[in-house]
Amino acid sequence: MRLLLKRDDLIDPTVPGNKWRKLEHNLLAAEEQGRTTLLTFGGAYSNHIRAVAGVGRACGFRTVGVIRGDRTEPLNWSLSYAASQGMQLTYLDRESIAPALG
Ligand SMILES: Cc1ncc(COP(=O)(O)O)c(C=O)c1O
Repeated sequence: MRLLLKRDDLIDPTVPGNKWRKLEHNLLAAEEQGRTTLLTFGGAYSNHIRAVAGVGRACGFRTVGVIRGDRTEPLNWSLSYAASQGMQLTYLDRESIAPALG
């Protein structure tokens, strides 16, 4: 018997596994619609934010990350990576988000 394993963690270091499967349809739709910017939301250590920053750069999109919470300096390793990929970071404080969450 042969056992085959698909290593989703090896798809790409920046966009592994489910991140690529979630993003690919949005990237294709954005391209088909002629969009040039990807905007998304996430936490200060978000895998999703890093994935969008990396794949956005690789695919030629401008990227904007709306980060939950207040800006802290220096940027942590995760947001530093996102910024290094050209992602514009903006922040949404928790007090502003709370009413929308009910
Ligand atoms: C579509 C989407 N938006 C945003 C996020 C950010 O989530 P988090 O709050 O964990 O950073 C994720 C996480 O995977 C996601 O899939």
